[in-house]
Amino acid sequence: MTAIADHHVSHSFDDVPTSHQGLIAWIREVADLTQPDRIHWCDGSDAEWTALTDELVAAGTLVRLDPETKPNSFWARTDPTDVARVEERTFICSVDEADAGPTNNWRDPAEMKAEMTELYRGCMRGRTMYVIPFCMGPVNSPNPMFGVELTDSAYVVASMRIMARMGTHVLEAMGSSADFVPCLHSVGAPLEPGQQDVPWPCNQTKFITQFPEERMIWSYGSGYGGNSLLGKKCYSLRIASVMGRDEGWLAEHMLILKLTSPLGTVRYIAAAFPSACGKTNLAMLEPTIPGWKVETLGDDIAWMRFGDDGRLYALNPEYGLFGVAPGTGWKTNPNAMRTIAKGNSLFTNVALTGDGDIWWEGMTKDAPAHLTDWKGREWTPESDEPAAHPNSRFCTPITQCPIIAPEYDDPRGVPISAILFGGRRATTIPLVTEARDWTHGVFMGATLSSETTAAAAGKVGVIRRDPMAMLPFIGYNGGDYFGHWISLGKDADAEKLPKIFYVNWFRRDEDGGFAWPGFGENGRVLKWVVERLDGTAEATETPIGRVPTPESLDVDGLDLTPQQLELCLRVDPGEWRAEVPDITAWLEKFGDKLPTLLWAELDGLKTRLGIT
Ligand code: GTP
Ligand code: SPV
Ligand code: MN
Repeated sequence: MTAIADHHVSHSFDDVPTSHQGLIAWIREVADLTQPDRIHWCDGSDAEWTALTDELVAAGTLVRLDPETKPNSFWARTDPTDVARVEERTFICSVDEADAGPTNNWRDPAEMKAEMTELYRGCMRGRTMYVIPFCMGPVNSPNPMFGVELTDSAYVVASMRIMARMGTHVLEAMGSSADFVPCLHSVGAPLEPGQQDVPWPCNQTKFITQFPEERMIWSYGSGYGGNSLLGKKCYSLRIASVMGRDEGWLAEHMLILKLTSPLGTVRYIAAAFPSACGKTNLAMLEPTIPGWKVETLGDDIAWMRFGDDGRLYALNPEYGLFGVAPGTGWKTNPNAMRTIAKGNSLFTNVALTGDGDIWWEGMTKDAPAHLTDWKGREWTPESDEPAAHPNSRFCTPITQCPIIAPEYDDPRGVPISAILFGGRRATTIPLVTEARDWTHGVFMGATLSSETTAAAAGKVGVIRRDPMAMLPFIGYNGGDYFGHWISLGKDADAEKLPKIFYVNWFRRDEDGGFAWPGFGENGRVLKWVVERLDGTAEATETPIGRVPTPESLDVDGLDLTPQQLELCLRVDPGEWRAEVPDITAWLEKFGDKLPTLLWAELDGLKTRLGIT
C-alpha cells in the first residue's frame, strides 16, 4: 500500500473538450498541486445540474424542496462559521503595496502564493475538481469577459450555473487562445480514503486573494457566496475594477434599473448601496405611484463605459440574483417572491418549513409555528434566535424575474441618466440629495457612510465610510480610484454625464422606527430624481446639496405626517458639522493620492456649514 502522502494521482488530458493549451496547462498544474480524485469539465447542462444536486442531496449538503411550491429548488445549510464574506481574510496582492492601500489588506504576491501553495497542496484529495468555464456578461459581446473557476465544491458549481453564463458554449467561445481570468477555489477539506464527508466542508483558515497584475484569483477555505463564487465580487469587482482603471471604464457595486414614466419616457438608473442596503429591492421595485414602471437589469454589479455617443453605458455581468433573504416578502419585494416561486433556486441558511418550503424573517408577518432553523434545530416563534441567518440568501436565475428588462442581455448595456449613492444611516443623511455636478457627486460617493451589516463577518451596525459602496471591492488604491472617477468625468461631455444623487432609506424617527416607509414607496424618490433631470421639480439648496422641497416630493396617498416628511428631508447643520472631522480623517487616509478636487469639495462644505 502506498501512503496517502505519496499517492500521486495523474490525470489524463487526452480527451478534454478544449484545444486551449494555456487552459489545459493551468488545469494540469492545479491538479498536480491539489490532487483531486477526478476532474469534471462542466457543460452547464440540465443533466449535469440534476446529477450535481442529486449528489449534494445524498451528501446532506442540500435538501430538495417541495416540487409543488419550489420546483427544482434546494435548501442548503452552511457550517455555522462560514456564513458571509470575510473581509479580514481578503487580500489585494499587488506587486507594489501602494497599489492596494489604504483600504485593502495587502500581502506580497510571491509570499502569498508560497503560503497558499502549501495550503493547496493535496487539498482536493478524495474530491472532484470541477472546471467551470464562465463568461461575465453576454458571450456574444465583442469583448467577452471569460473566466475559468476550478473548484472542489459541487455547491459552487450549482451556484455558478445560476449566477453566471457557464458551460460548453462558453468553452467553445473561448476557442484555443482567448484570455480568461484563472479562478482557483478550494474549500480546503481533503478526504482521506474512507473518510466520511461533512455536509458543508470548509476550513477555519480562509484566504480570498486577488493578484491584480496577473488578473488572477485564489480562494481557500470558504464555500460561501462572495468568497467562493469567484465570478462575482472577486472578478467582477476587484479584478474588473483594475481592468477598468487601466482601460478607462468602471466596475461598480451597483444595481441597474429601467424606469418608465406615465408618459412613456424611459430612463436607466444605476445605484450603489453597500451590501445588504437595498440594491436588490430597488432593482425589483414595484412603484406605488400610479403609472410608473420599473424593470430590472441587475441587482449587484454594473460595468460602465462610455459609448461612441458620449453617454455612460452600464451592463450587468451577472446572470442570477444572490439576494438577502430576510426582509424579502410579498409586501416588500413581490417581484423577488415571484422570481423564486418559479423554482430552479438555491436557498442558503434560511429556515425550512414542515412541508418542504422555505421561510425567513420578514417573509410573512407571522412566523410558522414550527420550522427547522438555519442551524438544523427545531424552531418555534418562541425561540431566542432568528430562524434564518441575517445573511441568508436566495440564489435564482435573473431570467425568471417577471420584470426583467429585455435589454438585460444586450452587450452594449444601457445609457445611464442618474447614479444614486446610498447607505444605511439612522441620522444626518436626508432621503435624497442632488449633487451640484459630477465632482460634487464623486465627493458624495467617496465619503459615503453606512452601518455595517451581516453581509460581511464582523460587528453589525458600526458606521464606516464605504466609498461608492466599494470599500471591500476596490481592487487597487482608493485614492487612484477616486482619481479615476474624477478623470472620467473631466474627459466626458458634462451634458451627457449621469446626474448624481445620494439617498438614505434608513433614517430613524424618535421612536427608533424607519422615518421613510421605503420599498415600493422609493418610487417616489425615483420620480423626483427624473423630474430633476427634466428640470420640472423644485429643490432647496442646502450646505450638502439640493434636497426636495416638501411640495416637490410626491407623497400623495402616503401615510406620512408633515413632521415625518420634514425629518426625512432634514439637513441639520449641527449633525453635519459633527460629521466633518470624520470625513476629514477619512480623506487624510489617502494622502497624496487623494484628488485635490475632493479637498476643495470638503472646504466648500465646511464654508457652507460655517466652519472656518
Ligand atoms: P447585497 O446583496 O448584500 O449587496 O445587498 P443589497 O444591497 O442588494 O440589499 P437588499 O436589497 O437585499 O436589502 C437588504 C436588506 O435591507 C433587506 O433585509 C431588505 O428588506 C432591507 N431593505 C431594502 N430596501 C429597504 C427600504 O427601502 N427600507 C427599509 N427599511 N429596508 C429596506
Ligand atoms: C455582498 O455582500 O455585497 C453580496 C453578497 O452581494 S456576496 O456575494 O457574498 O458578496
Ligand atoms: Mn452586493
